[in-house]
Amino acid sequence: MPNIQHIYHELVAIVGEAYASIDPEILLRFAKDETEDLIFMPDVVVRPANTDEISKIMKYCYAHDIPVTPRAGGTGLSGGALPDRGGVVLSIDRLNRILNIDEQNLQVITEPGVITEVLQQAVKEKGLFYPPDPSSRGTCFIGGNIAENSGGPRAVKYGVVKDYVLNLQVVLANGDIIWTGANVLKNATGYNLTQLMVGSEGTLGIVTQIVLRLIPHPTQDLLILVPFKALDKAGEAVSAIFRAGYTPSAMELVEIDALKIVSAYVDSHLVSIDEETAAHLIIEVDGQDKDVLMQEIEGILKVLESFDIGEVLFAEDEAQKTELWKLRRRAAEAVKAAGYTIEEDTVVPRAAMPALIRGVKALGIEYDFKAVCYGHAGDGNLHIRIRKEGHPHSLNNEAVKPALKALFMLVKSLGGTISGEHGIGLLQRDFLPIVFSEVELNLMRGIKDVFDAKGILNRGKGF
Ligand code: LAC
Ligand code: ZN
Repeated sequence: MPNIQHIYHELVAIVGEAYASIDPEILLRFAKDETEDLIFMPDVVVRPANTDEISKIMKYCYAHDIPVTPRAGGTGLSGGALPDRGGVVLSIDRLNRILNIDEQNLQVITEPGVITEVLQQAVKEKGLFYPPDPSSRGTCFIGGNIAENSGGPRAVKYGVVKDYVLNLQVVLANGDIIWTGANVLKNATGYNLTQLMVGSEGTLGIVTQIVLRLIPHPTQDLLILVPFKALDKAGEAVSAIFRAGYTPSAMELVEIDALKIVSAYVDSHLVSIDEETAAHLIIEVDGQDKDVLMQEIEGILKVLESFDIGEVLFAEDEAQKTELWKLRRRAAEAVKAAGYTIEEDTVVPRAAMPALIRGVKALGIEYDFKAVCYGHAGDGNLHIRIRKEGHPHSLNNEAVKPALKALFMLVKSLGGTISGEHGIGLLQRDFLPIVFSEVELNLMRGIKDVFDAKGILNRGKGF
C-alpha cells in the first residue's frame, strides 16, 4: 500500500481538495457507526460526487491494494461500515439525488445517499409507497438499506428491501461499472445479481443507482397498544393473530423494561406502566377503508381475549400515533444509553418466538447478563439488548462470546438464524459457522473472490 500522503493526493486529483481528507477530526466522524461505540480510524476519507469518480477511485485502490470501506448513513448496528483495517472510507453521502419518480410504472430511480425517509416522503407526494422503514429512517441512507437488506416494522405485511429492488448500478472493486438486471417486475434472465448485491454489506461492490418498485400508498391506518402479563404470551398471541387470518401492517413487541427506559428517555407519559404488565404489542392495520380496518381490529382483539391482556390503548389521533411509534422506534437508542450496549438481531420462525424469549431469559441467568427484548414480533425478529457489567463491547470479547454462542445455538436449534436485518458486519462474523457449514461458507468466499479477487472492499468482513 502506498503511503497515506500519496493516497490522499491521488484521491484529491479525482474528487477535488474539498472532498478528501486526512484531518483526524474529520476521520473520526467516519470511524464509528451505531455499533457498541466502536471506533476504527480510517487513513483517508473520500466523498465522491458520482459514479464516474467512484469508478476512478476503485481503479486506483484496486491497482494499489488499498482497502476501501464503503459508507452510507453510518447508522449500522453490526459494524459493516467500520474501517477496522484502516485504508479509505468511501462515503456516498454526495450521491443524494432522487433521479426519477416514474408514476406510470410505479418505480423510482434514486442515488444511494438519499435519506430513506426523504425518499419515502417524495414518493408519498405522488401517492406512492416505499414501505421498508428501519427505525433509523430519518438518518439512514437507502444505499445502506440495500447493503444490509434492512427491514423495519412494516416488513411484516410489506416485506423488506429485497422485495422492492429491481435493478442496481454497481461499481465493482476493480472500477468496472455494471447494471445487475432490468427495470422490470419479472426477470428470469441469468443469475440474480440484483439480489446477490442486496445484503452483501459493501463486500461485493458499491451501489451507485437504485431502481425500486413502489406500491400505492395506503390512506388509512389504526394503531393499538396491547399489554400482556407474560412476555412469552405476547409472543404466542402474535402467531394466533396470523393464524386467524389477519396481516397487520406492524406487529411490534416491546418488553416492559424497554418501555420504561424509552418513556423516560423521550419524556413520554402516554403509556401508564403498571406492575402487572410484562410486555406490549404494538399492532397497526392499514388500507384504504376505515370501516374494514375497524373490523380487523375487532377481530384481532377477539383473538387476544384468550391471552389475559390488560386495557388496550387505541391511538386516537396522529399525535398519539406518532408518540407510540416514537416509543418503539427510539427503543434501541434509549436502551443502549441505559447501558445495554450489545444488540442482537435474532430471527426465528414466528411460532418459535416464545421459546426464544424464554431461552434468552434462561441464558441471562446462566451467563450473568441482563437482557431486554423488543422488535418485529410479526417477523419472529427479536432484538435482544444485553447488559453485562464491565463489558460494553461484544467484539473480540472472550467474556461475552460464550453467551452469544449459546444464544445463536439456541436460535439455530429453533430453526432461526443470527441476523434478520442488521447484517453480519464485524460483530457476527465469528459466529457464522454456527449457521453455515464449511461447504456453504466456501461458496460465499468463492463469490467474493469473483467480485473482488484482491479483497479490498470491506476487507476482513464477511466470510
Ligand atoms: C429497531 C432497529 C434497531 O428495530 O432494528 O429498532
Ligand atoms: Zn429492527
